[in-house]
Amino acid sequence: MASIVPTTLRCNLLTDPLAVADERPRLSWVLKHAESGAKNARQTAYQVCVSSREPGDADLWDSGRTESAATFDIVYEGTALEPFRTAHWRVRVWDETGEQSEWSCAAQWTQAPDEWPAKWIRYYDPQGRARPFTLKGAHWIWHEDESPMKSPPGVCFFQATFELIETERIDVVASADDSFVLRIDGEEVCRSDGEPHSWSRPQHCKIELSSGEHAIEAEVENCNEGAGAFIAKVRSASGQTVTGKTWQARKQDSNDWKGVQNLIEYGGAPWGELREKELHLPPYLDLSRSFQIERPVRRAVLYSTALGLCRFHVNAKPAHKDWFAPGWTDYDKRLHYRAHDVTRLLTAGTNCFTAELYDGWFAGYIGFKPERNHYGEDTWLSAFLRIEFADGGHQTISTDEESDAGIHYVNYGDFLMGEFRGPHEPEISNAWAENSNRILEPYPMNPVEVYATVPAKQMHTVGTATVFDLGQNFAGVCRLQLDHLDDEQSVTMRHAEVLNEDGSLYTKNLRTARAEDTVVGDGYPVDWTPRGTYHGFRYVELTGVKDPPLDAVTGVALSNIHELASTFECSDRRLNKLWQNIQWTQRSNFIEVPTDCPQRDERLGWTGDIQIYARTAALVGDVQAFLRKWLTDLSDTQREDGQYPMVAPLKVAGDDGGPAWSEAGVIVPWALYQVYEDEELLERQWDSMVRFMSFCESRSPDGRAPEEYHCFGDWLNVDAETPNDLIFTAYFARSADLLARIANVLGKNASHYMQLFKRARRSFAEEFVENSGAVKGDTQTGYVLALAFDLLDGSLRKGAASNLVENIERHGHLTTGFVGTKDLLLVLRDIGRTDLAYKLLLSDEYPGWLFSVKHGATTIWERWDGWTPEDGFADPAINSFSHYAYGAVGQFMFETIAGVRLLEPGYKKILVAPEPGPLTSCRAEYDSVRGQIAVDWEISDGQFKIKVSLPPNTEAVVRTPDGEENQVGSGEWSFECAHIK
Ligand code: BGC
Repeated sequence: MASIVPTTLRCNLLTDPLAVADERPRLSWVLKHAESGAKNARQTAYQVCVSSREPGDADLWDSGRTESAATFDIVYEGTALEPFRTAHWRVRVWDETGEQSEWSCAAQWTQAPDEWPAKWIRYYDPQGRARPFTLKGAHWIWHEDESPMKSPPGVCFFQATFELIETERIDVVASADDSFVLRIDGEEVCRSDGEPHSWSRPQHCKIELSSGEHAIEAEVENCNEGAGAFIAKVRSASGQTVTGKTWQARKQDSNDWKGVQNLIEYGGAPWGELREKELHLPPYLDLSRSFQIERPVRRAVLYSTALGLCRFHVNAKPAHKDWFAPGWTDYDKRLHYRAHDVTRLLTAGTNCFTAELYDGWFAGYIGFKPERNHYGEDTWLSAFLRIEFADGGHQTISTDEESDAGIHYVNYGDFLMGEFRGPHEPEISNAWAENSNRILEPYPMNPVEVYATVPAKQMHTVGTATVFDLGQNFAGVCRLQLDHLDDEQSVTMRHAEVLNEDGSLYTKNLRTARAEDTVVGDGYPVDWTPRGTYHGFRYVELTGVKDPPLDAVTGVALSNIHELASTFECSDRRLNKLWQNIQWTQRSNFIEVPTDCPQRDERLGWTGDIQIYARTAALVGDVQAFLRKWLTDLSDTQREDGQYPMVAPLKVAGDDGGPAWSEAGVIVPWALYQVYEDEELLERQWDSMVRFMSFCESRSPDGRAPEEYHCFGDWLNVDAETPNDLIFTAYFARSADLLARIANVLGKNASHYMQLFKRARRSFAEEFVENSGAVKGDTQTGYVLALAFDLLDGSLRKGAASNLVENIERHGHLTTGFVGTKDLLLVLRDIGRTDLAYKLLLSDEYPGWLFSVKHGATTIWERWDGWTPEDGFADPAINSFSHYAYGAVGQFMFETIAGVRLLEPGYKKILVAPEPGPLTSCRAEYDSVRGQIAVDWEISDGQFKIKVSLPPNTEAVVRTPDGEENQVGSGEWSFECAHIK
């Protein structure tokens, strides 16, 4: 029997993917020991067999026995698959003694469609009812008897009539100089807000009216000698009624209705464009397609995409468990589609698939402006169902002009603002259908899914509201369950990460994100989970319901990272909490793109944050597919001249990332190469990286900062501003160095980049470093960059190291921002001062990691002083409580406390060298690309004892704290030595 077995078969990094576009996808597996106790196990050969049937022969491909230790990036070299065909594959391996394993369980992949048969559909909106409702088209009017723009103070009435064909909710907007009260059929519907210049803030309302004729009347007061004016608009399914010559006017002291004069059309002077209703939250759509099935079905796969967010039901049952399809890319360049097996949902006879279509990243609010419609105004859907029948035939049902489109009018879902759901039936009409030649690609990673439910731990009341504490900050939504809601009773959930002292929600740090979900009852129980939004929160405030039970709300946590790749537990509970906080923060921010934060009006793929955090990210979860996808987003947004942006996809923020942000384009691929030995990714990104480096070089041949450039600096440092030009040169050098190394990996000529690195290094020493090793600015970040990026030789390096130590001792704490924190503790370890690293790590004073833990944090804060006992909450403009950058300390924790470091890419060779410091035990596991690595050490009875478990195909140096080194292969090993304090 062989010592190893292949498990966890994947194709293009996914388990049994339903849409693989490549003709030559990449296959992988993970080796396990066949029996516990096995040691030094290695794969010496493999055989992959791929069949068009299951179980089957290798009619598509038989790799034959291939002498190789490779377990990933095995390129399929068999017959190209026809679209929709499934390949079944398995693998067996030979171990170090030439013994052959059993065949693995079978896995599969299905070839993607080669063309997209479906049309694009949307709701056809002739009245523009889903568009922002403004006064456009209406005239400012006044009584015909008074001179325009010069009327005496007093009250004037205006009236008109309009007709509705059926009962419906109509939109009304009005404004007046100086103030108005508006009535319909004698009932007041809205009035000016009573504040100065109320004419500049038109008032909006929606009211339900029955069919027939209705009278609209305004009572308008002109307070001073000067312009008196009124403007209004009513919008219904039958059309619009706007102020103009058809209206009538009468003075307060007269009963005579007379004509009106048009003063100016909306938009004209002196009133100009008014600040219309600040939020525009258009309704979500229901798009559906009915079809017949007359023969037994073997398999049915639904392929779908959208400009917007789509969620499908087939025959009223949920068709998938993933959220936020089709995800976020630079929609102008590429769009993903998803494939879901829906066989079990079909029935004989009439069937129907339906999609709810929300605004999402495409048309909703995203980023800090706040702005919407980033990619377009109208949301679109395109989908087809491919049904394979038991008799061998097949049929395709596509979105087209036969589809229906429903619009809800009041119900909406928006990422930042929240969701509204009332028991309103949608209005349904034929869908508008168009062809499009957009380039579609299969979704390349694990989608956003629910990875945890978070029950409320406790609740308290604030006024008439109930505030639930879920005990954990996370990204997602709340499921609301209530036994009963009256007709028209509306219940609102507001979300926040933290509370004010009086127990109410603190929402200032959300900036313009409203984070508010409302449901309106219909006399039945409520079980509602919003689907077109998400929030970053720990607390939920419920209003509109009296004495709700604790289980009325349950958190639903969402992320692309479902499984964790590691565990970490040491003798200091505070550090364990810190590790958990890192995990929660990462999952809260790995939502389609690596976001900076999940709560405020931002949620962008900030380049700086992820380059700082990438190595830790890969310890927390398997992020290979996720970050590969994001690197495509990054390349898609790369500027013409080669510069990388601040955020990818590029929206809201700028296209010039500046030092420490733009280098994400080089640092993240390198990090993925280190962790996953992903050479193919380096190859894929190579041209993009070269263009970036050429841009850097053209701006600065020797790495010295040019006259003008953008730089965020050492973001959120503690009163220790590192000179921008130093950060510029350091990161320039780092990129050149990495390009040289990447060239070497890819077998390309590295000499140019080596020269460039040398030049930049020289510039750095000349510009910023004194003979004593003092670095310009004398900041911890300056020293850390010099040391981490290997920018100094010999005595200068030594000098910089002692200056760093001296600086930390002088301050008594860290002073680093995003840029310096990344490598601070790793550098201290590498200069032999792990003791000082521990001191910083274990301090629970501000500023430091355990300060937030001491104050009850359940996630990583954006800033060291997010909240302090002295000053309370920090500047709400920049104060997220779920920001992963400072969580980059996770790399130090795993490498130094657990002691697991990679010596060769992909953990082929590992260093296990825990440095216990003041700790007495640590147990950790990590699912590397080569299998699970586990470490368990403790200090007892004056002895340091360690157990190490290594997967097949790896070797390690296990170094005990006494300096003794042991070379080992795979399997379980134990060592011990005397514990020296
Ligand atoms: C983000 C950061 C980002 C920064 C740029 C902020 O608004 O939240 O994480 O890197 O802007 O300085």
